[in-house]
Amino acid sequence: MSFDPRSLRKDFAILERPLDGHPVCYLDNAATTQRPRQVLETLVSFYTRWNANIHRSPHRLGRGATDLYEQAHRSAAKFIGAKSEREIVFVRNTTEALNLVAACFIDRPDGARSLRPGDEVIVTLMEHHSNFVPWQAACARRGLTLRVAGLNRDGTLDMPAFRNLLGTRTRLVCCTHVSNVLGAINPAREIADCAHAAGALLLLDGAQSVPHLPVDVRSLDCDFLAFSGHKMLGPFGIGVLYGRQELLEQMSPFLYGGDMIRSVTLAGSTWNDLPWKFEAGTPDIAAGVALGGAFDPESRERLPGAMDYLSSLGMAEIRAHELDLIEAFLSGIGTVPGIRTYGPENTRLRSGLVSFNAEGADPFLLAELLDRRGISVRAGSLCAYPLLSALGETGMIRFSPYVYNTREEVARLVESVREILACEIV
Ligand SMILES: Cc1ncc(COP(=O)(O)O)c(C=O)c1O
Repeated sequence: MSFDPRSLRKDFAILERPLDGHPVCYLDNAATTQRPRQVLETLVSFYTRWNANIHRSPHRLGRGATDLYEQAHRSAAKFIGAKSEREIVFVRNTTEALNLVAACFIDRPDGARSLRPGDEVIVTLMEHHSNFVPWQAACARRGLTLRVAGLNRDGTLDMPAFRNLLGTRTRLVCCTHVSNVLGAINPAREIADCAHAAGALLLLDGAQSVPHLPVDVRSLDCDFLAFSGHKMLGPFGIGVLYGRQELLEQMSPFLYGGDMIRSVTLAGSTWNDLPWKFEAGTPDIAAGVALGGAFDPESRERLPGAMDYLSSLGMAEIRAHELDLIEAFLSGIGTVPGIRTYGPENTRLRSGLVSFNAEGADPFLLAELLDRRGISVRAGSLCAYPLLSALGETGMIRFSPYVYNTREEVARLVESVREILACEIV
């Protein structure tokens, strides 16, 4: 690990905020992260120097805003190793990106269908509802068959069972890269190779991987990748759909309206180039710039985006830091009586989050008691009913650290859980 989380904390004013006299201990980063001063300043710079609509007005502010927004697409392409910015569609969040593929992959602009009744889509039991419900609905609408790949006892994907599900009718595998419940990192490249060998495509839900691990779409060989800016130090309201250019070209538009058209006549319309074909209407321009980062068109100074901030730390270093924190958490919480943790025991197979339960304790109550001590953790079904029901649980607590969290905070969480269980709730 080559960065010191303590030195980053000065960039995150919210971490200085006391909660009921306790310093805030924010450990709910899988839900959303905090934003550093640099990203907030980029939002302010956009609004105070360049605010105008894009791709419409010929004036200097309009040209500047367009330049910044297009640069931000290039920055995002570079961040995930995409071939070009044509493969980067800015959307609101992961959920919208996944719905876009579920809505548009089936239909082609020439009126033909990429998927026909009886074709199969595979998801896994560990999907977030965002990568399950859109496919369930699309399959019901189009007469497709949804197959669900199961898990091993340790929470990893059952690869032999997954391979058995692949068949001549499989068209798409939709799989999370990292489980938001189990923390398990799925072997994306192996899954891509299996899917491609069967003639299918791979859509990866990167909501919990892109913020935490080095992710390169070309070395993973995925066909689509979806992720959210707010889970990686960026603003709310901006996310990314990566899609291989030839696939995006073959897909129908998602929303129809301004900027996504090339021509409109009373007889019909034609579509703009990628990625604008998928970005109808006025997007959140400032959020896009503050996610990817761009050079100010006049001063040539960098307006840093969340991706710049993460790159300056190094994604491999972020991974090493999180591994250190989850190992510290697992060994600490393992000494608290009655705790059950979920997901792979081998920490190399897991990313930076751990879900757990305490025997006989309501996870919501435990989270509330932690909150009274200034510790913010998630409790609930974690948007994964099928997985929780397979595990026989109705709720869990999730610890999810990020770049600014320290070992001291992990120890504070562990000791608080120990004290609460010893005297406050059981
Ligand atoms: C694995 C996974 N996929 C999808 C999502 C949905 O992300 P968003 O709410 O930003 O659309 C989440 C959010 O927690 C997630 O963890």
